[in-house]
Amino acid sequence: MTAKSRPRPGLVIVSNRGPYRLYVTKRGLKRERTVGGLVTSVLPMLEHVGGVWIAWGEPEGRFPIPPRRSKFELQHLRLEPEQVRRYYHGLSNSALWPLCHSFLGRVRYTPSDWQCYEQVNGLFAHAALAAAGPDDVIWVHDYQLGRMPQYVRDARPSARLLGFWHIPFPSVELFATFPWRQRLLEGLLACDVLGFHIPAYAGNFIAAAVELLGARADGDQVAWRGWTTRVKARPIGIDFAAIARTAASPPAQKRAQEWRAAIGQHPIVLGVERMDYTKGILERLNAMEVLLERRPDWHGKVTLIQIVTPSRTEVPTYQQKKREVDEAVGRINGRFSDGVWSPIRYFCRSFSIDELIALYRTAEVALVTPLRDGLNLVAKEYVAARLNNDGVLVLSEFAGAAQQLPEAVLVNPYSIDDMATAIEGALTMPIDEQRRRMEAMRARIQAQDIDWWAQEFLNDIQRG
Ligand code: UDP
Ligand code: G6P
Repeated sequence: MTAKSRPRPGLVIVSNRGPYRLYVTKRGLKRERTVGGLVTSVLPMLEHVGGVWIAWGEPEGRFPIPPRRSKFELQHLRLEPEQVRRYYHGLSNSALWPLCHSFLGRVRYTPSDWQCYEQVNGLFAHAALAAAGPDDVIWVHDYQLGRMPQYVRDARPSARLLGFWHIPFPSVELFATFPWRQRLLEGLLACDVLGFHIPAYAGNFIAAAVELLGARADGDQVAWRGWTTRVKARPIGIDFAAIARTAASPPAQKRAQEWRAAIGQHPIVLGVERMDYTKGILERLNAMEVLLERRPDWHGKVTLIQIVTPSRTEVPTYQQKKREVDEAVGRINGRFSDGVWSPIRYFCRSFSIDELIALYRTAEVALVTPLRDGLNLVAKEYVAARLNNDGVLVLSEFAGAAQQLPEAVLVNPYSIDDMATAIEGALTMPIDEQRRRMEAMRARIQAQDIDWWAQEFLNDIQRG
C-alpha cells in the first residue's frame, strides 16, 4: 500500500524513540537510523501505510521522510535535559525497563522521576491530539508512554486509540512493587485495543488490572470505569520480503564473502544486540569459554563475532555491564588466542541493517540468548536472511520469539553448561536437520510479517 492510496482514517504513531536522528547540515537535513526493535518494525509499517510519527528528537518540527516523494511525516518533540534525565533515563530505563524484564535488583523508584514521566506523557498526548483528526487512529508504542492514552482519552473521549507494549509485562507479584501501579494500569486501560507480544504478557497485564486495580475481565476484554479495552497477544513481525531481498542482492553476497575471507574457512557464531544487561551477553561469553575448555580440538576452528551497540550509556547499570563484557572478552581472547586466531571478534558500535544481513548470511550459527526479552527481532532477521534454509538459531527460552520459533535450539541462558552444550550441538547439527528446522521457521516468519501484524491491529480497531 502506498501513502497515496492510504485509506482514511489516517494513522498517528507515537513513540519515545523515532526512526532517525536528524542533523542540520549546509546541504540540508541528514538522517541517521536509530537502533532498536521498535523502530525496525514500525518504520516499514509506516512506510507502507503512511501517516505521521511523533517522537522525541531535535530539531523540533515536522519533516517529510524521505524529503522528496515522502512516505510519512516525522514530527519531533524536543525535551529539556532534565526531562530526558528523569522521564527517559530515570522512570523509563531505571524503573520500568528492569521491572518489566524481572530485574528487581536493578530497579530505582524515584517519585520526582514519576512526576516527570506523567508530565512528558502529557506533552506527547498534547502533540498527538493536535496531529490527529477525529477519525484518525492514534497508535501509542511502548513503556515510555504508559500514561499517555489516558490523557488523550480525557481530552477526546471518542479518540480511536491503539497501544502496543513492546517489552515483557511482569507477573503481578513483581508489578505490585511499582509505586504508581494503579496510575500506569489506568493509563493503559484508556486504549481501545492494547497489544502484547505473547499470551503470557497479556495474561499478566489482565491479572494486574483485576488484582491491583479492581477491573473486571471477561476473556480478552477488561472493563474499568465504564471503558472496555480489548487486550491482544500478537508478536510483532519484520519486513521479511525486504530482508530476504537484501540477503539475495549482489552487494550482500560480496560483503558476506569479505567477512568469510577475513575470518577464515571455519564456522562463525554470531551475536548482535544493544549493550543491555537483559541480553545475556556476559553469560554467552562465559559459555563460549566453557566450550573452548571442553573442546581444545576446536581452537583455531570457531569464531564468535559479537556486536554490541552502545545503548543508554548514561544509566549506571549499563556502564557497569559494559565494563564486565569488555573484561570478559579480554580474558577469553587473552587465554585462547594463538597470535593468528582469536575466538572472539568484538565490535562496540552500531552496524547498518545491510551489514548485519551480510553477517546473517555468513554465520553458521546465531546466538540469541537474552536473560529476558519482549520478543527479539535479531532472531527473526537471521531466519529471514538464511535463503538456503541452512544455519542454526540458538534461542533463549526467555525471549518472546521462542513461542513463535520452537524449531530453534532453545536454551536456558542462566545455565552456562547447557548453553555450551547447545552451541556445540548447533555447530555439529546435520544439514538435513538444519534445513527441516529453518524451513518451518522461515514459513512462519514470512506469514506473520510486519504487514500481517499491522493489519490485524488496524482491523481490530476498525471493528471497534
Ligand atoms: N540493530 C541494528 N544495528 C546494530 C544492532 C542492532 O540495526 O548494530 C537492529 C537489529 O537489526 C534489530 C534491532 O536493532 O532489528 C534490535 O531489535 P531487538 O528486538 O533484537 O532488540 P531491542 O534492541 O529492541 O531490545
Ligand atoms: C527496545 C524498546 C524500545 C527502544 C529500543 C531502543 O526495543 O522496547 O522502546 O526504543 O529498545 O532503546 P532506546 O532507549 O535507545 O530507545
